[in-house]
Amino acid sequence: MRKSPEELRSARWFGPADLRSFGHRSRAMQMGLAPEEWRGKPIIGIVNTWSDINPCHTHLRARAEDVKRGILMAGGLPIELPAISVSESFQKPTTMMYRNFLAMETEELLRSHPIDGAVLLGGCDKSTPGLTMGAISMDIPCIFVPAGPMLRGHFQGKTLGSGSDSWKYWDELRAGTITEEDWAGVEAGIARSHGTCMTMGTASTMTAIAESVGLTLPGGSSIPAADSGHIRLCSESGRRIVEMVWEDLKPSKILTKQSFENAIAVAMAMGCSTNAIIHLIAMGRRAGLDVSLDDFENYSRRVPVIGNVRPTGSQYLMEDFFYAGGIRALMGNIREHLHLDCITVTGKTVAENIEGARVYNDDVIRTQDRAIYREGSLAVLKGNLSPDGCVIKPGAMDQKFLKHSGPALVFDDYPSMKKAVEDENLDITPDHVLVLRNAGPQGGPGMPEWGMLPMPKKLLKMGIRDMLRLSDARMSGTSYGACVLHVSPESYVGGPLALLRTGDIVTIDVDARRIDMEVSDEELAARRAAWVPPPKRFERGYGWMFSQHIQQAHIGADFDFLRTDFGAPVSEPVI
Ligand code: FES
Ligand code: MG
Repeated sequence: MRKSPEELRSARWFGPADLRSFGHRSRAMQMGLAPEEWRGKPIIGIVNTWSDINPCHTHLRARAEDVKRGILMAGGLPIELPAISVSESFQKPTTMMYRNFLAMETEELLRSHPIDGAVLLGGCDKSTPGLTMGAISMDIPCIFVPAGPMLRGHFQGKTLGSGSDSWKYWDELRAGTITEEDWAGVEAGIARSHGTCMTMGTASTMTAIAESVGLTLPGGSSIPAADSGHIRLCSESGRRIVEMVWEDLKPSKILTKQSFENAIAVAMAMGCSTNAIIHLIAMGRRAGLDVSLDDFENYSRRVPVIGNVRPTGSQYLMEDFFYAGGIRALMGNIREHLHLDCITVTGKTVAENIEGARVYNDDVIRTQDRAIYREGSLAVLKGNLSPDGCVIKPGAMDQKFLKHSGPALVFDDYPSMKKAVEDENLDITPDHVLVLRNAGPQGGPGMPEWGMLPMPKKLLKMGIRDMLRLSDARMSGTSYGACVLHVSPESYVGGPLALLRTGDIVTIDVDARRIDMEVSDEELAARRAAWVPPPKRFERGYGWMFSQHIQQAHIGADFDFLRTDFGAPVSEPVI
């Protein structure tokens, strides 16, 4: 059933013969538009997260014009709507403070304007979940267009990966194995073009998820930002969204529990960022679906990591992944884990979208029997330290920490930990468990990416490069190491992590999916009775609203009032 022009949402603005619509029409003419340009045509909002201070989105200003070309060709009218850019590289304390802000902005931009369908331009970490969460809540036809990964980094004849090589060479500098001059070379060579981080960080993870859940044109998430194919992806998305409006193909018709399971399977096979968990759960809950940590645990046991992209993979980057066949080829190699009949923005099924996809380099995109890691990328652990769950990335850590016991060294804030790890006389051994608390959704605030806690200098000088680390923070998708993250409930609100003391023994068993502190229930009860909640972080502004309404990590860290089942649905504007 195709929509008729009178049924378009925008017709309520432009159609009626009343004074209010006279105002809308005359003001459209003020912008130089003739009635022929809007009458009976889908009006497409291009929600653009371009900004002068987001290097990952530098090209989106120009790409919006390419999207517009596609929309015009297909008989729509493009309207560009700027939105907050959530720039991972610059925003403090963390972009995670602003993911829900972008989601609200996206939803309200689309609701309050005469928009029939939307193209969402983003890609830098939180921008993908932010844009899609908002569009899911608004539920008008939409396509997500990823910014695309940047080109590989280069330094002294070697390839550099975003994030991952910053951490690696920083530790080498601190261990004294490279010079300041080398370090300056890394700084100049690690980010060579516009586009998002080109490791399998949160950006590449989330754009792969947007595609595999059905919201991006097939293959779109693998195209490097600097490739002319990216320009063509933009115009094609513009052409397609106009058709989607006529077909009324909305997120609620695309997103099902099965499509989210496809996204989880793909995330696992890609060696995804730990952030995928929080964002996918939040997206699923916006769609009114029960997506939980259990789904990740379930797929983690079944789907091996076959995308050989750093940091879980050994050597390759997103550019290599694209040349090797990209996400369609990867999906082809895990077909038996996918629901192939799910519908996507193409109006076709996953099976149709991946038909004919081929792997051109089977070292980059492996078969399952030659997997990079036998299980999925992430493991969900529970125990008396984290009753609601926490996360570790078993494929990207020293395997000896999969089962480990050691004494905790606990820090209550980042600055004191940062100072301590530089002390070469710090009382710490390779068996210790380094712990940071007050870094969760409320405590951080905003759950900053501090979770790859810095290795103590004393251990680095001993030649040690990994140890067990534990926090209620997140970590960058480009990070690696034996880091337990997202401990829920967080310490700041009185989760059991708040009761852990230096010297307590922490035991982890990843196979058994357990994490515990060896402290008796009676002792924990006594410590709880003596626990004093920390003071509130904000008394006014956005931070105040954030801390009033942010939820815990294991349910996606969305605002409670944005949940689909929170109160009656928001009605359409009536006059
Ligand atoms: Fe933007 Fe990594 S900083 S994607
Ligand atoms: Mg990141």
